[in-house]
Amino acid sequence: MTKKKLLITGGAGFIGGNFVQYMINNYPDYEIYNLDLLTYAGDLIKHSEIQDMDNYHFIKADISDRQTIISLFDKEKFDFVVHFAAESHVDRSITDPEIFIKTNVLGTQVLLDAAKQSKVEKFLHVSTDEVYGELDFDPSEFFTEDTPLAPNSPYSASKASSDLLVRAYHETYNLPINITRCSNNYGPYHFPEKLIPLTISRVLNNEKVPVYGDGKNIRDWLHVYDHCAAIDLVLHKGVNGEVYNVGGHNEKTNLEVVETIIEELGKSDNLIQFVEDRLGHDKRYAIDPTKLEKLGWKPTYNFETGIAQTIQWYLKNEDWWNQIISGEYKDYFKNQYSLD
Ligand code: NAD
Ligand code: DAU
Repeated sequence: MTKKKLLITGGAGFIGGNFVQYMINNYPDYEIYNLDLLTYAGDLIKHSEIQDMDNYHFIKADISDRQTIISLFDKEKFDFVVHFAAESHVDRSITDPEIFIKTNVLGTQVLLDAAKQSKVEKFLHVSTDEVYGELDFDPSEFFTEDTPLAPNSPYSASKASSDLLVRAYHETYNLPINITRCSNNYGPYHFPEKLIPLTISRVLNNEKVPVYGDGKNIRDWLHVYDHCAAIDLVLHKGVNGEVYNVGGHNEKTNLEVVETIIEELGKSDNLIQFVEDRLGHDKRYAIDPTKLEKLGWKPTYNFETGIAQTIQWYLKNEDWWNQIISGEYKDYFKNQYSLD
């Protein structure tokens, strides 16, 4: 029997990287192709243990490079595509939106053309709850798959645009697609520009932690391993053309998250510094995952255990994040924040 070929884009990043490991562990009979441009957010250190395996292949390429992508699909004839590659940080999209359009919108369209031409069995587009905009603080309101798209940041607008293109390729060309829209992930290899790893790394170095506005904005946190299991399920069991929301009912204010990390590390709340709010800062995200639960998924981590394990991971893997925060990240951080 010929092996199934799975292309994972963005497999050198946070979630894509965890998904590559998940698929290598759970599907030894698949050929796994990881395509990534290795931008500031991607590295292959996370795959050093699998890099020589026969069923793992790395391709350095830009998803918006049409010629390269079309000829790759022509040659390899992938069965499945799981598309993570993106510019993913909201703050960077506020400072410099253009690359978000090139990668997230144009890059997705190039992949869709390639997938259509080579007749893939499934194109799974990994999207975000941010495409729905924001919710009020009323705890009875949730994002469902029918919530209208109302993105507020250049990042979420670029993701919503790509979602609409994916939908259109299903409606127009009958491309077999799914879209997953997940809430905020946390876990191993989360890049230290994002709230949780930024807080862990700075608290460990006894440095101030910037909290935007009054810290009362709410995010709905999900462990990255639970997200990987959800994508696996949708890839193999999702109904063609359908959207699935992914989230585990884990709403926390940003201040609660930061205080939990500080307490877990035995440090003082004096490390918190309230700073100017993010422009267009979405108040609250909260996912209703009923549709995915009906397909057979449920989260396995509660936040308390998940965050404690994540902190332990960052303690054991200081080399990984130290090498990031001592590089070009230093300039990014200096331009982004003015801290005491
Ligand atoms: P990340 O920034 O950690 O990783 C992105 C990866 O994409 C990096 O390895 C980068 O090198 C690669 N990449 C960027 N531009 C590329 C290009 N032009 N061609 C090829 N590769 C390129 O992102 P993440 O947090 O792992 O997010 C992955 C996906 O999941 C994104 O599509 C994001 O929108 C979505 N998502 C993220 C979250 C979250 O909480 N982080 C939640 C829901 C959905
Ligand atoms: O909801 C899913 C989204 O989650 C993904 O689509 C994005 O790719 C991912 O980056 C994430 O977006 P957020 O903007 O929610 O994540 P971030 O970690 O940047 O911020 C989380 C919250 O913390 C947000 O309300 C802003 C706040 N924050 C963030 C940073 C970086 C701070 O208060 N201080 C900070 O320094």
